[in-house]
Amino acid sequence: MVGRADDGGAGDMTEGAAETDEAAAEARLAELALLIAEADRAYHQADAPVMADADYDALKRENAALEARFPHLKREDSPSEQVGAAPAEGFAKVSHSQRMMSLANAFDETDVTDFVAGIRRYLGLSDDAALAFTAEPKIDGLSLSLRYEGGRLVTAATRGDGAVGENVTANARTIADIPQEIPGAPDVLEVRGEVYMSHADFEALNRRQAEAGGKTFANPRNAAAGSLRQLDAEITRSRPLRFFAYGWGEVSEALADGQMAALDRLGTYGFAINPETRRCASVGEMLARYAEIEQARATLGYDIDGVVYKVDDLALQARLGFRSTTPRWAIAHKFPAELAWTRLLSIDIQVGRTGALSPVARLQPVTVGGVVVSNATLHNEDYIAGRDARGNPIRGGKDIRVGDWVQVYRAGDVIPKVADVDLTQRPGGAEPYVFPTSCPECGSDAVREEGDSVRRCTGGLICPAQAVEKLKHFVSRAAFDIDGLGARQVEAFHADGWVKEPADIFELKEKYGSGLQQLKNREGWGEKSAQNLFDAIDERRRIPLGRVIFALGIRHVGEVAAADLARHFGSWDAFISTVDRAALEPAAKAADAKARKATLAESPAWSEITAIDGIGDAVALALTTTLEQPAERASIDRLIDHLEIEPPPARATEGSPVAGKTVVFTGTLEKMTRAEAKARAEGLGAKVSGSVSAKTDLLVAGPGAGSKAKKAEELGIETIDEDAWLALIGDG
Ligand code: IVH
Repeated sequence: MVGRADDGGAGDMTEGAAETDEAAAEARLAELALLIAEADRAYHQADAPVMADADYDALKRENAALEARFPHLKREDSPSEQVGAAPAEGFAKVSHSQRMMSLANAFDETDVTDFVAGIRRYLGLSDDAALAFTAEPKIDGLSLSLRYEGGRLVTAATRGDGAVGENVTANARTIADIPQEIPGAPDVLEVRGEVYMSHADFEALNRRQAEAGGKTFANPRNAAAGSLRQLDAEITRSRPLRFFAYGWGEVSEALADGQMAALDRLGTYGFAINPETRRCASVGEMLARYAEIEQARATLGYDIDGVVYKVDDLALQARLGFRSTTPRWAIAHKFPAELAWTRLLSIDIQVGRTGALSPVARLQPVTVGGVVVSNATLHNEDYIAGRDARGNPIRGGKDIRVGDWVQVYRAGDVIPKVADVDLTQRPGGAEPYVFPTSCPECGSDAVREEGDSVRRCTGGLICPAQAVEKLKHFVSRAAFDIDGLGARQVEAFHADGWVKEPADIFELKEKYGSGLQQLKNREGWGEKSAQNLFDAIDERRRIPLGRVIFALGIRHVGEVAAADLARHFGSWDAFISTVDRAALEPAAKAADAKARKATLAESPAWSEITAIDGIGDAVALALTTTLEQPAERASIDRLIDHLEIEPPPARATEGSPVAGKTVVFTGTLEKMTRAEAKARAEGLGAKVSGSVSAKTDLLVAGPGAGSKAKKAEELGIETIDEDAWLALIGDG
């Protein structure tokens, strides 16, 4: 790095040195402009950051320091003049009537004290004159500007480059926290705030995406950005986005005299205002609030990356005004980066339910963002090698070795990961890590299929690690959910050899329950809890088909796919006999997707499975290969003998006006959620589809319906509103 602003002036140097210094500064400024622009594009347009926030902040600071030292070298495209990145292609552009600004950053208490002192100086206020600030969490999402005219939402736009953003109005209308109409609002009202996703919703979304074989997101911010910036608003609707209002743009009449009061007013209009927001009367109170919010951070349930302080008095805000991209009256006090460096002590391999070998880094314990971390994920063998399957570099192509000095990253509740390695600190003699090609638990071959980044143990049920993980999955909430039999208990039963596979659970009483003596004598079990366990197990002998299919823990068969399969087949026999037939077909044997596709046409059972909405080749292949493995199949057959499997609820299709019809819902539904509408329609024998095509029989369009309504009109498809739909199905 070239000198910083506080390194001392060029005057201290000889002329030659100053020239060299200046040339170096110019080159570095050019480099920084490129690096920052690239990072901005990745973050704002592709929703796929290429560097940690802390590294980005450091580059911006280095740039600002160089510009302060060599003002004449400031570039036309200086990063300090840019906010975000120009809007992405694909969305209509919206010019913001007032620029959407960014915030200057404070990294420590001195920065905050300087900020307040600077404001006092600017306003000519003495040290003891009253000056209040609001302090509120800085939400880690993406900003959105909502324009209301005559109390109706007319435009929603992302920040873009601050001057021009993307028009995401249809998408914003699908977010429950955003009012569509505000009775009594000023004629023109622009509300600004942050769209974000809660940790719980983020995890559930990633689970759903993974099950459906879709894209998963690295963190809640990316998930929120990726979900809002969808060209099809129906996708946004299916994503659990939320919104906190923190400010405003153009308004035709003042909302209040103070920031806090204006936020309260927005609250009365129906916006969510962050409940952690406080008014602080001094720097001491601001810093105390910062500490409190930092403490609360882990339990808020959504990501924040600092605290924003704003001058409360709006008349003073107006006097203070703006610099080129940031207000003088506000600052973001950032939390320290959730990064730390430590020594990699060893690499362990864990074996999961589907046999995946997952490398885990055992670390010299280190505090990262206030939490002691001693384990972190290393993802897979490519990640360790620093090359993907195609040989492209990952993390700059640096491999990770035991003994290395590594950077650990954690955010919110996300599992910590090894994010980087410092090659200059590599101990002499450190050897490249050799990923095992046999399972460390059972010794079976561990193989990697083409196109898969994961290596898997081929031991199936003979692998104790897979068996235990399968059992844990079997008793989990969405599967058998047996009261009193959680992950810990099945692990103990497995260790003692009482439960080796699911069927053993249903034979526990017979084998070990005599007089309850044996179970009672086990640690942690008394007469009552033992009896309760047997009762709970008995209760689950009758169980819906979808739960059984899910409980088997077959790769790619999550809750949703299991429910789809159950709905289609209706009974275990129909399901298993079709899988058996499919397994005999050439498609199931074909090694690669292309060969499978080529044989599909002649494979009726295989085609029946893959024709189910939401079920593709990957699921069909996983079903056939798993269920045809002799040991696996014997274990499943043994289980099924203990069960009375309930068919999915029968469809009340008799006399249903929509039975057999393909229905599409679009726009905002006001009397039911999307999930309810879908379930109800399916219960009446309709097929609910996500897109309009020539096969669509009926479009149910709520307010805000867009491209789908247009397409239906073009295709001459009958379109009705929500009330007409309810009347049609007899709920009106
Ligand atoms: S005020 C003119 N308040 O942080 C002031 N911003 O780095 C504009 N952000 O673009 C911003 N929480 O996306 C403000 N409570 C909050 C915020 C917040 C998150 C974001 C916002 C802004 C960025 C600035």
